[in-house]
Amino acid sequence: MRSLASLYTVSAHLEERQGERGADEGTRRERGLARLAELGELVGGVADELGITWLESDIDYDGGKLYLVAGAPVTGGDDEERMLVALRRIVSAEVEPALSAGVAGGHVFAGEIGSESRRTYAVMGDTVNLAARLAARAERGAILATEHVLERSRRRFELHGQPFLMKGKERPVTGYSVGAPLETRERDHDAIPLVDRRDELELFRAAVDDARRRRTRMIELVGEAGIGKSRLVEELKVECAGFQQLVARGEQYASATAYGAWRDLLRPLAGITADADATSAGAHLQAWVTAVMPDLAPWLPLLAIPFGAEVTPTPEAEQLAAAFRRRRLNETVDGFLTRLLLMPTLLVIEDAHWLDEASADLLRHVAASRMPRPWLVCVTRRDEQESFAPEDAVELRVPPLPDADATALALLAAGEAPLSEREVVLVRDRSGGNPLFLRELVAARTSGSLGELPDTVESVITSRIDRLEPVDRLLLRCASVIGPVFDLDLLAEVLAGELAERGDAARVHRLSDFLVPDEGERLRFGHDLFRAVAYEGLSFARRRHLHGLVGLALERRYGESAAAVLSLHFFEAGDVARAWRYAVLAGDRAREQYANLDAAELYGRALAAAEELDEARPEEVARVAEALGDVCDLAARYEDASTAYRTARLILADDVVAQARLLSKDGMLSERAGAYDSALESQVFALALLDDNGFDEPALRAELALHRAGVHYRQGSFEDCRSWCTRAVEHAERASARATLAHAYYLLDIASTRLGRPESRYRELALPIYEELGDLVGQARVLNNLGIDAYFEGRWDDAVGFYKRGGEAFERAGDVVGAATIGNNQAEILSDQGRLEDAGRILAEVQRVFRAAGYPVGIAICTSNRGRLAARAGRFDEAHELLEEAARSLEEIGAAEQALETRARIAECLVFEGRHREAFAAATDAEERAPEGLLPLRALLARLRGCAEVQDRAPERGGVHLKASLDLARSAHAEFEVALTLLALADSGLEEGTHVEARAILSRLGVVATPRIPMP
Ligand SMILES: Nc1ncnc2c1ncn2[C@@H]1O[C@H](COP(=O)(O)OP(=O)(O)O)[C@@H](O)[C@H]1O
Ligand SMILES: [Mg+2]
Repeated sequence: MRSLASLYTVSAHLEERQGERGADEGTRRERGLARLAELGELVGGVADELGITWLESDIDYDGGKLYLVAGAPVTGGDDEERMLVALRRIVSAEVEPALSAGVAGGHVFAGEIGSESRRTYAVMGDTVNLAARLAARAERGAILATEHVLERSRRRFELHGQPFLMKGKERPVTGYSVGAPLETRERDHDAIPLVDRRDELELFRAAVDDARRRRTRMIELVGEAGIGKSRLVEELKVECAGFQQLVARGEQYASATAYGAWRDLLRPLAGITADADATSAGAHLQAWVTAVMPDLAPWLPLLAIPFGAEVTPTPEAEQLAAAFRRRRLNETVDGFLTRLLLMPTLLVIEDAHWLDEASADLLRHVAASRMPRPWLVCVTRRDEQESFAPEDAVELRVPPLPDADATALALLAAGEAPLSEREVVLVRDRSGGNPLFLRELVAARTSGSLGELPDTVESVITSRIDRLEPVDRLLLRCASVIGPVFDLDLLAEVLAGELAERGDAARVHRLSDFLVPDEGERLRFGHDLFRAVAYEGLSFARRRHLHGLVGLALERRYGESAAAVLSLHFFEAGDVARAWRYAVLAGDRAREQYANLDAAELYGRALAAAEELDEARPEEVARVAEALGDVCDLAARYEDASTAYRTARLILADDVVAQARLLSKDGMLSERAGAYDSALESQVFALALLDDNGFDEPALRAELALHRAGVHYRQGSFEDCRSWCTRAVEHAERASARATLAHAYYLLDIASTRLGRPESRYRELALPIYEELGDLVGQARVLNNLGIDAYFEGRWDDAVGFYKRGGEAFERAGDVVGAATIGNNQAEILSDQGRLEDAGRILAEVQRVFRAAGYPVGIAICTSNRGRLAARAGRFDEAHELLEEAARSLEEIGAAEQALETRARIAECLVFEGRHREAFAAATDAEERAPEGLLPLRALLARLRGCAEVQDRAPERGGVHLKASLDLARSAHAEFEVALTLLALADSGLEEGTHVEARAILSRLGVVATPRIPMP
């Protein structure tokens, strides 16, 4: 199957049922052919004229089916109206009333299917089936259409007879019999043409052209409520005629529902209906992905999350380390969209300031992609949120209308009701050029006396709502509690006890000043300020009451699947028991979906509810507080995490073990923030708690010891690190804590190496445990260290092999930063080998990843490597700049070893320049600060001092240092250092023939060039 894209279309079926019994075969055939020709001409002509696609026919002796679509392969706009008009013409042109028709609109799959040799353009989906079913139900000579199609048609039609309900797969469908066309309906938007915005439109056109040429473009429209962002989006949609158009919205109420916005956008793309439950959505998605993009199948469990679908786990997705799932999820969705949206596509994300965090993150990812795609992404947002746009995107601040245009808009909005010149000026000035404000002022003026001109757009809207009939006002306000979009049924249900007649809810159709039709049976507030103002108009007690009713109605309908929204309504209703229950449920669910910040919001709500709830069990409240800490930690909100852990500790004041565990977690937070002293303090305190109270808890002790060892390692206290590792090993063995054990072994290994006493057995112990646990990140780290050791020991081929395996393991675990760390090490080898350009390319990419991840140590280490590379290439100014910057930040972070190494590289650069006095001082200074161990670094420093002395024409003293360097390098098996020192000895004339051995080593290491050191 080839690509099928999802499109919005209007589909129609024409059915003919003649049933000519009795006539002989020959006559039937003849009549049949004649009629076919007639029908063909009629339908073909009308379809041509109105731009409708005649897709297929299915002809039989005594009848047949014709199949028409509008909106595919391209939309000509007003698809509903054109289709209905066409069908009216076809049906009424018939002398005998023999044709019947059915019309439905919605998403279908359209595209080419079949093989290279036989390919057809096909349109399929529920909409198509619904049209066929309506055609089958229609009387002869009649057209049955869904309400959805009629609502969207600008032209109204006479409607005959009673609408009827037809059972549907998901929900019953109402069919209307369509009669003669009537007048064109004036739509709110169409009523007033766009004023001003010439610059914006010009920019749109350029962007649309770019998108057509597969240059992904992004436009971000930024500005206050009512300034005209959505209106500009409407214009953009018109500019994008022929584009597939997908729209998602941020919604205030949905802001803690992870991926809420994307779900609506994604589901139709895979043919999943909005109301399908998670299991059936999962089954559908699974089948779809297997058939259409099987290469994404391994990541299906991640892809399913924003679809709100549940699928069976896959090993690949299981193996991903938790911290990296979000990124892989983003990549998978991006891949899905890239593969599916091959034709020009407009992606609109409206009101992005209200996106839930997971949706926002996904949007940022999609926007930042550099893939060439025929997409135009348009985001609208208020100024209160960070930009979604990558650097090269257009951020368009929508300005107020200039005076002349504001005047024009005021006059247009007033229409028949005249405004005096003075009033126009007043209205224009008061609105400050905000079109919504301006229109509201005019509407207030024309629907009664304005009296004093209100100061804010909110107050105009308030006075307009206040003047509504009481029932209408109640409807509007109640709807505002449900949310920006609402179901009529739901509104009726909520108001059942409030209104005399249930049917009164249908009156909302009259509120078209404030409400506009949305998908299906739903309505939406025409502007969010209408909703906000209607909501503000409710008293606190009334709001509480209504939230409770809405919550209960939603609970009856959707149950736990709507937990996030339920928690909000019940919280606002003061029903803290339910608020607590649903917020915990939704929080746990968001956490499973790696939507950490959304989970944090929900857990926060749960805790707030728990404060007023007597029956919440303290252990459960503490669990939620700890979970809040954990998700904040993962989202790098360290302060919030720390506060949450403190809350948990207060609740669990009597539970010593929990205190120790929480303290230890708090210590980890300090370590991550680089506060090593307070990190140590927490671990010491936690351990003391266990000791003083006589708790054994070997697993926790192992963790504590390990964390402590980790802090010592970061501080460069390798002996302390080793001794705490040994303790961690003991406890972990007693507790059979395999993961902790492997980690301790691994830390022991690297600490020993740093001390110059490599103990490879630890490494060999760690790797199999990680393999047994399926811990890819652990394996990758060990492999990386095997690579580093091989590198220092001059087995560069081995090193390259280990790095390769380690990099692959990191990739599989989704750890891009880990993979970049290995890339950094690979670049180091290339740099040593003199393959400077290759190294430079890799380092640039590594730097990008580290920066994107906000990983300061990584950035500094990479900067140091780039500095060394610049020095080797003779770009000394750049080298000093980079190296100084790296040394400073490494010192600030407290990464002692790397800082020292960078200082040594500064000395090395000075030697390359022949600035021997400064070089000698720098190398000596570094040497004095070097802790025990670090033999390769010491060898480097001794060599630099030697070279500096030789440059200073003191060859004897130089020789002493060079020989010392040689000894150190040989004892550390640092072959590269050995070779460089041998070269220095030969070049300075101190030794003869040493360059022979040097050359042999260098060629074995694959070195193609070494930097020149000027000698007298
Ligand atoms: N340039 C314009 N010309 C005519 N009407 C406009 C213009 N800009 C906005 N409007 C109208 O003003 C109202 C508010 O605009 P809208 O686009 O909804 O604002 P936003 O999305 O920025 O909150 C809408 O009724 C819209 O049709
Ligand atoms: Mg808007």
